Amino acid sequence: MGSAGVQKVLVTGATGMLGGYVCTALADAPVDLHKVDRARFDLTAPQQVYEYIMAEKPDVILHLAAETNVDLCERDPQRAGVCNHLATDMVARAAAKLGAWLLYVSTSYVFGGQGGLEFNELDSPAPPNYYGRSKLLGEQAVRLICPTHHFIIRAGWMIGGGRGRDHKFVGKIIDQLEGGATEIRAVNDKFGSMTSAFQLSQFIAWSIRQRCFGTVHYASRGGVTRFMIARQVAAILGRDVRITAVRSAEFPLAAPRAEAEVMTSLYLPLLDGPRPGQWEEDLEAYIRQSF
Ligand SMILES: NC(=O)c1ccc[n+]([C@@H]2O[C@H](COP(=O)([O-])OP(=O)(O)OC[C@H]3O[C@@H](n4cnc5c(N)ncnc54)[C@H](OP(=O)(O)O)[C@@H]3O)[C@@H](O)[C@H]2O)c1
Repeated sequence: MGSAGVQKVLVTGATGMLGGYVCTALADAPVDLHKVDRARFDLTAPQQVYEYIMAEKPDVILHLAAETNVDLCERDPQRAGVCNHLATDMVARAAAKLGAWLLYVSTSYVFGGQGGLEFNELDSPAPPNYYGRSKLLGEQAVRLICPTHHFIIRAGWMIGGGRGRDHKFVGKIIDQLEGGATEIRAVNDKFGSMTSAFQLSQFIAWSIRQRCFGTVHYASRGGVTRFMIARQVAAILGRDVRITAVRSAEFPLAAPRAEAEVMTSLYLPLLDGPRPGQWEEDLEAYIRQSF
């Protein structure tokens, strides 16, 4: 416990997209917030990660830091393993030693390697690439090492950042639209789920208060392709541009992607926390609020 009985909350990956939203969501909460950046906490040195957390003695750890570049993970699986598996193992060991509650954010990339269309929390993961495998091993370490004090949230393709800071799919589409593109080509043969980083941050803030336990999927309702998202972005912004559906083979990437990694949730409806909506509504809310 921090000073005057206030909970000390340590956020790894505080400089990341989700980390930024989470720190904002907790800014006015009655907690002692410690934002951790790469300079003080490097996932490539797992033993130092352990020692850093042991020295800080948090009550709550939000472990958001990860090597999130899916194609880099494929080219350098050792980096994926060290950053996403071994460092998470060390975070979990420190949490167990301190009796801290540990929240770990995982990914829909743990699914899809063996086919199937939709996956709920009872479905067995089968990651199609090294990023998914390393995140899954991180999950397993958290469950094994902190059996009673963990909460794992699997998120879908995350949207967030806003104007000037969204370098992911939605931001790139908006850049093309604002740059006067007359045609946008987008992949239509890979299905996934979308998660609003803002909504997830609200859910994370709620889950800390509740000390939630177990594993839950957190994504907007409805499966999407990049093509569907691009078409919807153009419609929301009222842009009359041709959106052309293409096959993923047109954009070769280092890491194989699943045909489908759509997530549904059996457990989220049982929780009273803030829930995602239908994907079209959540995408529109993000664009209207952030662009
Ligand atoms: N983005 C998605 O679509 C998505 C979907 C599902 C789950 N997730 C998970 O959600 C979490 C947050 O993702 P995000 O989208 O916010 O990712 P992000 O914007 O790429 O942020 C990643 C964070 O991890 C930090 N980090 C990366 N390598 C590090 C290292 N070697 N040592 C220390 N810190 C390091 C980054 O620090 P710097 O700022 O210094 O780079 C940054 O703060 C991750 O665990 C990710 O696996 C993401």
